Amino acid sequence: MMAVENPITKTVQEEALRKIKLNLTKESRIGEIDFNNLVFGKKYADHMLVADFDGHEWKNAEILPFQHLSVSPSNAAWHYGQAIFEGIKAYKDQDGEPMIFRPYDNYARFNTSAERMGMPTVPEWLFIGGMDLLINADRDWVPSNKGCSLYLRPFMIAADEFIGVKPSDTYKFVIINSPAGPYFNKPIKLLVQDKYIRAFPGGVGYAKAAGNYGGTMYPTMQAKKQGYDQILWVDGLEFKQLQECGTMNVFAIIGNKAITPDLTQGTILAGVTRASVIDILSDMGLTVEERPVSIEEVVTAWKAGTLREVFGTGTASSVAYVEQLDYKEHQIKLDTTKYSVGAEVIERLDAIRTGRAEDTRNWNYKITRL
Ligand code: COI
Repeated sequence: MMAVENPITKTVQEEALRKIKLNLTKESRIGEIDFNNLVFGKKYADHMLVADFDGHEWKNAEILPFQHLSVSPSNAAWHYGQAIFEGIKAYKDQDGEPMIFRPYDNYARFNTSAERMGMPTVPEWLFIGGMDLLINADRDWVPSNKGCSLYLRPFMIAADEFIGVKPSDTYKFVIINSPAGPYFNKPIKLLVQDKYIRAFPGGVGYAKAAGNYGGTMYPTMQAKKQGYDQILWVDGLEFKQLQECGTMNVFAIIGNKAITPDLTQGTILAGVTRASVIDILSDMGLTVEERPVSIEEVVTAWKAGTLREVFGTGTASSVAYVEQLDYKEHQIKLDTTKYSVGAEVIERLDAIRTGRAEDTRNWNYKITRL
C-alpha cells in the first residue's frame, strides 16, 4: 500500500471535532444501493453536513442523516443566484480505506468562488475537517468498482429571507455525498457554435457559481436536439478562442503536444482534474502548452492529419473522449479507439487515486479513522 499523509493539522482536526455535532443515523440505507449499477448523481449516502453563517461566523455545524432542507420561498439564493458549489471524489485505496482526491485544491477554489460572488469564505475546520468527519461516517459508501467513486458535493447558498437585491448576510454551507458511476458512458460529440457564450473577461466564468451552469441550459438543449452532448464554449468577441465544455476543461493532442486553454482571461474554471492531467501528460513526456487555443488551430491540425485526440477533463467526467467536434461546416470525426494518450492518462490518474501507483505529489487525502 502507498503511504499517504494527511495534510490536515491536529489543531484543525480538533477544532472540527469540537465544533461539528455528530448526529449519526441509527439505520443505514446502504442496503438499497446496487453498487454494480451506479449512475451519476441519483443516490445519496446516509449523512450530510450543514452549517450556518450568521453574518459573523460559521455555527450550528452538524453531520446528520441526509434529509430535505427547510428553506423560505423568499430565500435570496433562489431569486438572485448567490450559490456556489464544488465537485470532489473519494476512492478506496488498495486496503479498502477511503481517500479524497486533492480536496485542498477544491477548498481553495471554493473560497475563490465565494469571494467573487460576495459570499463568506469557509474555514478549513468546516470544509476539510467537516469532509473528513463526513466521509468517516459514510466510509462504507465509497465504491471500489472500477470507474466509480463517492462524489462529494459541497455547496453554499445565500440564506437571507429578503427579496431586495443585495448580498445576503446569512448563508448555509452543505456537503452531500453520492455514490456515483461514470458521468459519460461513451465518447461524446461537441458543438462549437457562434451564437451563445458562457463567459466573458471580468465575469464569473472562473467561479463555480450555479448560474454559470443555469445560463448554459438553453443553448445546450438546442445542441442536444441536434445530437450533441455538450457545447464547446468559445470567447464572445470573435467566437474563436476555446474556453471549456459544458462540465469540463478541454485538451487537444496535436503531434507530440498537448494544448489546453490557459486560465489568464478568467473565463474558465481552474479544473483540479485539468491540473492533474497537465502534470500526468508532462510525466508521460508530452509538451504541454497552456495558452490561447483557437478553433481554427484545431481544424487546421485535423486537416493536416496531426490532430490525434480531443478530450474533456473534470471531476465528474474524469477524462471524456471526444469522437466528434463540429464547427461551422467542419465535422471533425476522431477514432477514439486509437486514443493512446487519453487511455494512459486515465490509467495513471486512476492508479494514483486508488493507491495502485505512488502518489508522488501528495494528491490523496486519507480519511482519519476515528
Ligand atoms: C464536476 O465535474 O464535479 C462538476 O462540478 C461538473 C458538473 C457535474 C456540474
